[in-house]
Formats: sequence, structure tokens, C-alpha cells
Amino acid sequence: MGYRVVVAGATGNVGREMLNILAERQFPVDEIAVLASRRSLGTEVSFGDRTLKTTDLDTFDFTGWDIALFAIGSDATKKYAPIAAKAGCVVIDNSSLYRYDPDVPLIVPEVNAHAIHGYSKKNIIANPNCSTAQMVVALKPLHDRARIKRVVVSTYQSVSGAGKEGMDELWDQTKAVYNPVSEVPPAKFQKQIAFNVIPQIDDFMEDGSTKEEWKMVVETKKIIDPSIKVTATCVRVPVFVGHSEAINIEFEDFLDEDEARDILREAPGVMVIDKREPGGYVSPIECVGDYATFISRIRQDSTIDNGINLWCVSDNLRKGAALNAVQIAEVLGREALKKG
Ligand SMILES: NC(=O)c1ccc[n+]([C@@H]2O[C@H](COP(=O)([O-])OP(=O)(O)OC[C@H]3O[C@@H](n4cnc5c(N)ncnc54)[C@H](OP(=O)(O)O)[C@@H]3O)[C@@H](O)[C@H]2O)c1
Repeated sequence: MGYRVVVAGATGNVGREMLNILAERQFPVDEIAVLASRRSLGTEVSFGDRTLKTTDLDTFDFTGWDIALFAIGSDATKKYAPIAAKAGCVVIDNSSLYRYDPDVPLIVPEVNAHAIHGYSKKNIIANPNCSTAQMVVALKPLHDRARIKRVVVSTYQSVSGAGKEGMDELWDQTKAVYNPVSEVPPAKFQKQIAFNVIPQIDDFMEDGSTKEEWKMVVETKKIIDPSIKVTATCVRVPVFVGHSEAINIEFEDFLDEDEARDILREAPGVMVIDKREPGGYVSPIECVGDYATFISRIRQDSTIDNGINLWCVSDNLRKGAALNAVQIAEVLGREALKKG
């Protein structure tokens, strides 16, 4: 016997990827419902070799459904997640709404799968921000060996992190640069994204950082260790899929770069590609469609006592969202629901 699974936001970037990954990983699905807003009623989406038609989330009855994978943004989640949870369906949510709620576990299975049992307080589990998910996969095995004191991270985040409208904006602006028949002014992003980079993701906070940067700080603490200090600069770049991060890590104990490389080679969810030659590293375009978090450019930071620099790249729609959500569903099934 398998699970009755709901995918809410099935017409979106993350929702479509969740359907792909459920099929690829042969998650034990007995029945599946694909939901979106009324706007896209009847829109066709693929699930393995099947084509499914979306129905309206607003009129859906969650009674008798086991797991709901949500990727609909915080506003809609606020309305619908409590309804699903109350009906006995466990919600695995991609929005930021519940991530900082002490009664909701925030999970990256390679790092803190043990936190899964906290789900029963609200019947809700949160998926982290895409830039946090890939970073903690890289940090955790190094923290276990040498205790991380401080992380300085700069991100290079793709436009798919801003949903399907973000991808359309880059595409349309790029075409308009070559064929300037009509102007495509910034809408989803604050400035032109084509042939540009934008040092702002999400809204500004009082201290001058952005909400995206704040998310990386608090989520890393919740998932790995509250004692880790993180300072982040998050930047949107004209890449369709794949987030990259330059990460500087200061440890309590000395960690040699060769040992760091060996630890990361053995770490779950990590693939090390690190040759000190032209092209001997991973760029975002090469990680699209992959499950791994790729690590390259591992090297000592000689400006501090115990420092390592590295380059970290992953498919933000997969490890940063859909894959992580399905992995959480797998842990939930194995550890708690025990069907399939
Ligand atoms: N993209 C990433 O890298 C990433 C990573 C981590 C987390 N997330 C989070 O995942 C969520 C979805 O992101 P996305 O990139 O997939 O966005 P997206 O491509 O814009 O898709 C949004 C989806 O939500 C549905 N939706 C929106 N409002 C709704 C409502 N009121 N009722 C029912 N359905 C509604 C849309 O349905 P319609 O087509 O009918 O409008 C669509 O299926 C967001 O919370 C985002 O922050 C995204």
C-alpha cells in the first residue's frame, strides 16, 4: 500500500519538478491530485508517463489524503496549509511561512532527518530556502569534524528562484536586447536582469540586509547549530536554473584542504568536482536536472587561522526545493507514516 499524495502548485516551477521527482524516485504513490489556482483549472501536467489535469485548490477536500507537497507561495499557504493539516494530511511546505515556527521542523534530510518527528505538533514540515538547502549540505560534514564558527557567503542566484514569472522576464528582456521592438521593463526584479546582476533578493530589512540574506542566517542556525554565525550577500544573476555560492568558512579547529575535500567526497548528497585546471569546477548550467550539491574550488584561506574557501552549486528547483521536499516525504514515510 502506498500514499495518497497531493501536489499543490502543480503548474509552477517547483510543483512541476516535484511531480518529476516523485516519478523518478518511484515514490510509492497510490493516488495523486494536482492542484493549482482556479486560473489554471484543467491545465495539463506530466507525472511520469501520465498526463494529469489540475483542479482547484480552493474546493479540494484533503480528508483521507496522506501527504501534501505545497509550492504555492506564503499567502496561499497561510490559507490552505492549516486546512490540509487539520484534515489529517501532512503538509510539506516550500514557502517561508512556517520555517521559523518552533513547532514546525525545518528539514534537509542529509543534515537533520532526525527532526522529522516534530511534524506531529502541527502536521506541517518546512522546506528551507533554496540557497540555504545547498549550503547546509556542504557545511554539516565539515562542522562535524572541525566546528564552524563563522560563514561568509556570497550567492549568485538564478531567476527560476523567483518562479516562472522570473524566468519569463529574463527570456523576454534578453530577446528585447537583440530585437528592440518593444521594451520589457523590470517587473519581477528591481532592475533589468538580462546582461546584469542585482544585489537584492526579497525585501530590505531595517539593518540594511535583505530578507533572503536573513533567511540564510536563521535557517542555517535552525538546521545545523544555533552557534554558527553567518553573514550573507545574495545576488540575482541572469542564469535560468542553478544557484552558485562562494563560501568562506572559519572553523574552531584547523582543517586541512585535502581533509576537507575527502570529507566532502564521502558526504551524503555531495559531489566534489575539484581539479586545479581550467574548467575543473562546476558551473550552474552543468548541475541542471541533477540531485547533487556540487563542490569545487576547495582551498585554504591563509588570511585566518582555520579557514576554508569553496564554491557550491546546485539545481535550485531540485535540491533547493522539489527534491528536498520529496526526500522529506521519503523520511516521513519511513520514520512515521510507515506505508508503502
Ligand atoms: N523556485 C525556487 O527555487 C524555490 C525554492 C525554494 C522555495 N520556493 C518556494 O516555492 C513556492 C513556489 O515557487 P515556484 O518557483 O514554483 O513559483 P511559480 O512558478 O510562480 O508557481 C506558483 C504556483 O503556485 C500556484 N498558486 C499561486 N497562488 C495560488 C493560489 N492562491 N491558489 C492555488 N494555487 C496558487 C500557481 O498556480 P497558477 O498557475 O494557477 O497560478 C503555481 O502553480 C514559493 O513559495 C517559493 O518561495 C521556490
